[in-house]
Amino acid sequence: MKTKLIIKPAIVSMLLLALLGGRAQASDTKELWDKTCAACHGKDGRGDTKMGKKVDVKDYTDPKFQAEYKDDKGIKTIKEGITEKGKERMKAYADKFSDEEIKALAAHVRTFKKP
Ligand code: HEC
Repeated sequence: MKTKLIIKPAIVSMLLLALLGGRAQASDTKELWDKTCAACHGKDGRGDTKMGKKVDVKDYTDPKFQAEYKDDKGIKTIKEGITEKGKERMKAYADKFSDEEIKALAAHVRTFKKP
């Protein structure tokens, strides 16, 4: 009986830690987005920013965009950036972020989809 009383809180706190851990990762990705990507794409993914208008980013809440968006292409874009006619529209982030982070950022783009 005594051991049971000790084990239960231990299990509960382990579950809590697992939950919090998962959440911390998700907010890290959002933090990366807000710090690094939002200057153009906007915190809400709409691209309604001064820089975003200058480089002409798309509205990532647009269902048409979301229907065509593929993580694989997103990952490639984040790694290699976009340069058109010798002008850089988006930087390459392959050296700045780990593969894990880039994968999470590419997935983050899908969270802007309107319900
Ligand atoms: C200097 C402005 C700028 C910044 C900063 C920027 N981007 Fe972009 N990004 C663009 C432009 C321009 C495009 C091409 C047009 C579009 O898809 O909106 C683009 C396209 C993309 C795409 C491709 C979407 C598709 O069609 O597959 C992804 C994914 C993306 N950006 C993610 C990011 C992430 C993640 C960051 C931060 C690490 C970031 N961007 C930072 C300008 C920027």
